Amino acid sequence: MLFDTHAHYDDSRFDGDRDELLRSLPGEGVGLVLNPGCDLASSRKAVAYADTYPHVYAAAGIHPENIEGVPDEQVEEELREIEALAAHPKVRAVGEIGLDYYWCKEPAERKRQQELFRAQMRMAGRLGLPVIVHDRDAHLDCLTIAEQYPKVHGVFHCYAGSAETAQRLLELGYYLSFTGVLTFKNAKKAAEVVRRVPLERLMVETDAPYMAPEPFRGKRNSSLYVYRMVEAIAEIKGLPAEEVARATTENGKKLFGIPE
Ligand code: NI
Repeated sequence: MLFDTHAHYDDSRFDGDRDELLRSLPGEGVGLVLNPGCDLASSRKAVAYADTYPHVYAAAGIHPENIEGVPDEQVEEELREIEALAAHPKVRAVGEIGLDYYWCKEPAERKRQQELFRAQMRMAGRLGLPVIVHDRDAHLDCLTIAEQYPKVHGVFHCYAGSAETAQRLLELGYYLSFTGVLTFKNAKKAAEVVRRVPLERLMVETDAPYMAPEPFRGKRNSSLYVYRMVEAIAEIKGLPAEEVARATTENGKKLFGIPE
C-alpha cells in the first residue's frame, strides 16, 4: 500500500474527474493521500476532501507565494482561520509553508515570507502538529528557521537541497520527501541525497498535478503515479520496491499520526 504524502486535488485540473479519481485510489494501491493547503480556500477544500474520503488527510497553511500583494491584516486573519481549521481531526500538519525565492527577488518581500514561515512554525508548535516545508532556492534560510524552532519537525517536500543540509535536517528530526524529479535523468543531486538518507526518513509524493515522473513527464500528475518514486528510490538504494513501499508508507503514517 502506497502513501502519496503531497498532492493538490483542489487544483482546477482535477475538476473533470476529481471524485472518480480520488475514489479509485485505494483500488489502485494508493491507500493514503495527504492534501496540503496553500491558502485558506485550498486548506478548506483539503478538509472537505478529508471529510468525504476515508483515505484522504489534510494539511492547512499558507504557501509563501500566496501572500504577494495581500495586505498584512488579511494574512493575519487567514492565519487565525487556518489555526481554527486545524482543529479538525483529519488535519495532520501545517502546510505547505516555507520560502520560495525563485520568483521573489525583493528583499522586503523575502522578509515577509520569512515572517509568515515563522508565524506558521509557531502555530505548528501550539497545535502540536508537524510542518510540510516548501523550500525553493532558499535552502539556507529554511534551515535557519527550522533550527530556530527545534521542537517543531516535519517534512521538507520535493527536497532539492544538498546532502549536507539533509544531514542537518535529519538531526533536527525532519523527513525528506521526493517527487517525480527523482525519475529525471539529470537528477544526480537528489539521487545522491536519497543514497545517503536512511530509508526510515524518506517519504514519497507526487505534488500532483505538478511534477509528473518519467515516463509521464509533462502530463497531469496524480497519485496513480506515486509508485514511480518508490521504484526510483528502490533502484538508487538497491532495495526491493516492496520494502521501500512499506517503509515510506510507515514513515508517513508515523509523521502524520495516522492509525493502522
Ligand atoms: Ni505542493
